[in-house]
Amino acid sequence: MPTEVQEIVSAEAHPNAGGPGPGDVIVTDNLWKTYEMGDQQVNALRGVNLRIKHNEYVAIMGPSGSGKSTLMNLIGCLDSPSKGKYWLNGHNVSELNDDELARIRNKEIGFVFQTFNLLARATSLHNVELPLIYNGTPAAERIARAKAVLESVNLGSRMMHKPNELSGGQRQRVAIARALVNKPSIILADEPTGNLDSKTGVEIMALFDDLHAKGNTIVVVTHEPDIAEYAHRIVTIRDGAVASDHPSARMTAGG
Ligand SMILES: Nc1ncnc2c1ncn2[C@@H]1O[C@H](COP(=O)(O)OP(=O)(O)OP(=O)(O)O)[C@@H](O)[C@H]1O
Ligand SMILES: [Mg+2]
Repeated sequence: MPTEVQEIVSAEAHPNAGGPGPGDVIVTDNLWKTYEMGDQQVNALRGVNLRIKHNEYVAIMGPSGSGKSTLMNLIGCLDSPSKGKYWLNGHNVSELNDDELARIRNKEIGFVFQTFNLLARATSLHNVELPLIYNGTPAAERIARAKAVLESVNLGSRMMHKPNELSGGQRQRVAIARALVNKPSIILADEPTGNLDSKTGVEIMALFDDLHAKGNTIVVVTHEPDIAEYAHRIVTIRDGAVASDHPSARMTAGG
């Protein structure tokens, strides 16, 4: 009897221990992140088990401080877990060194942040070119690709504007263009509409809908239920673990 109980408990803690299956893009097994603050330890994540398939559209919700940004940073290979395993497109990322992490991040992931994170003194074109400079793309190809992706987010007429010469929504579209220029398969967005009015937020979410329709996998952190409803699946994080995981109303309301 005691052995049986133990087995049930460990199966609950490790539902993803077997790693990725066909079509899985993001798989975490009992992911922990502990921040050391002097002699204090903050357990920001306490055993996150998540499985996201190719071309899923997922919203992550949860109270402030529940661990959403920490989880996004781990999923995006910006940080490493303290414990547990993470597979990205079948690679066991928890075993990669910093160089390999940077390479896989550059190739597979496009990030969009609440505060846009654009270079203030650079034009839209230059901001979007930057990821291509980092990976050594020749100048002519760089400019052509940056222009094309800016046009795809309807900023063809704002290529030479600097961030302070753009509206908030336009800045976020530059940031999305920058996230897309390396043709990543996964778009991660942490509160992408947090600094925008609701009408502009809707425009940005329409852009994510397009990207999803084009085959990208999308994970969006938001505290706004209206924004989360753009996604097809809503995962709620509480105290550093998954508290609920269900299809959005968009998916359940009459197909
Ligand atoms: N670099 C850090 N060092 C120490 N503690 C941290 C660090 N980053 C986050 N934390 C702590 O980890 C917990 C989770 O933080 P996180 O930023 O992931 O929350 P969040 O869900 O994104 O919150 P919000 O909705 O406010 O953005 C919080 O208690 C926070 O104080
Ligand atoms: Mg956050």
